[in-house]
Amino acid sequence: MTVPSLTLNDDHSIPQLGFGVFQVPPDETSATVTTALEVGYRHIDTAQMYGNEKGVGDALASSGIARDELYVTTKLNNANHAADDVRRSFDESLRDLQLDHVDLFLIHWPLPTQYDGDFVSTWKAMAELTADGRAKSVGVSNFEPDHLARIIDETGVLPAVNQIEVHPGFNNEAARAANAEHGLLTEAWSPIGQGQILDDPTIVEIAQRLGRTPAQVALRWHVERGDIVFPKSMRRERMQENFAIFDFELSPDDVLAISGMDRGDAGRLGPDPKTFDRI
Ligand SMILES: NC(=O)c1ccc[n+]([C@@H]2O[C@H](COP(=O)([O-])OP(=O)(O)OC[C@H]3O[C@@H](n4cnc5c(N)ncnc54)[C@H](OP(=O)(O)O)[C@@H]3O)[C@@H](O)[C@H]2O)c1
Repeated sequence: MTVPSLTLNDDHSIPQLGFGVFQVPPDETSATVTTALEVGYRHIDTAQMYGNEKGVGDALASSGIARDELYVTTKLNNANHAADDVRRSFDESLRDLQLDHVDLFLIHWPLPTQYDGDFVSTWKAMAELTADGRAKSVGVSNFEPDHLARIIDETGVLPAVNQIEVHPGFNNEAARAANAEHGLLTEAWSPIGQGQILDDPTIVEIAQRLGRTPAQVALRWHVERGDIVFPKSMRRERMQENFAIFDFELSPDDVLAISGMDRGDAGRLGPDPKTFDRI
């Protein structure tokens, strides 16, 4: 199965499907990522906050896979928004990942009620990390449209992506539309709604009709909409299932039907970025 690559606004390319390691325990991360690499995943999404960059690095190092075939994302922890901490923690991430560069480094959360509301200085420090190529691309995560407009207006630097919560139960259309208006790609986190949307009758009916699984149908919905996804699983069979989504399509009507599962804010599984303030 070949995973398509999408071109970012900085001309780097990114595999549309990856593997996420949120809630993968640190002592199981190396084995889990090794299995994901065996299945065929080449794009790994981790974060300083997940505490498992070292395990990701161990798996990448022992895989024997050439660095230029891998795509690695990590994210700035909420405690590290001060410019000096951006630089220090980025060095630590590279050390733990055992890499000389990451492909993508994201501000994990905007924290508009912390740091005097100044995520702009954080963004400037992030953007400087591309100068020597140690971060190929930089971007943001959980940025609402006004947060996004502000960093772009005040720095002139476009993030390559905005990684936001998107799944059939929470379409997050306003944030997706703002990303598209600015010319940046949406990365959809919790793409299968942490497993909670898979028994929805709309998805089950489409899956049965197409001879696919509910998770494959949900992931394919994102792909049809042009978003980037990195489902997480601890189990090889599910990793394989989630990887096998490029040999079928959904009709426009099926895409619309799945979008119709949107429950607005009630469908959110994670915190609201406007108020989330945990450091
Ligand atoms: N930027 C952010 O703030 C943010 C927030 C959340 C997530 N993320 C990123 O997005 C990635 C994915 O999100 P997520 O981990 O929250 O949720 P998810 O990928 O939507 O769902 C993962 C859950 O679904 C189960 N699952 C996986 N494949 C399945 C399948 N084929 N059938 C049935 N159940 C299945 C998994 O259980 P098993 O492991 O037992 O298989 C796990 O409980 C994360 O790993 C992380 O990289 C980013």
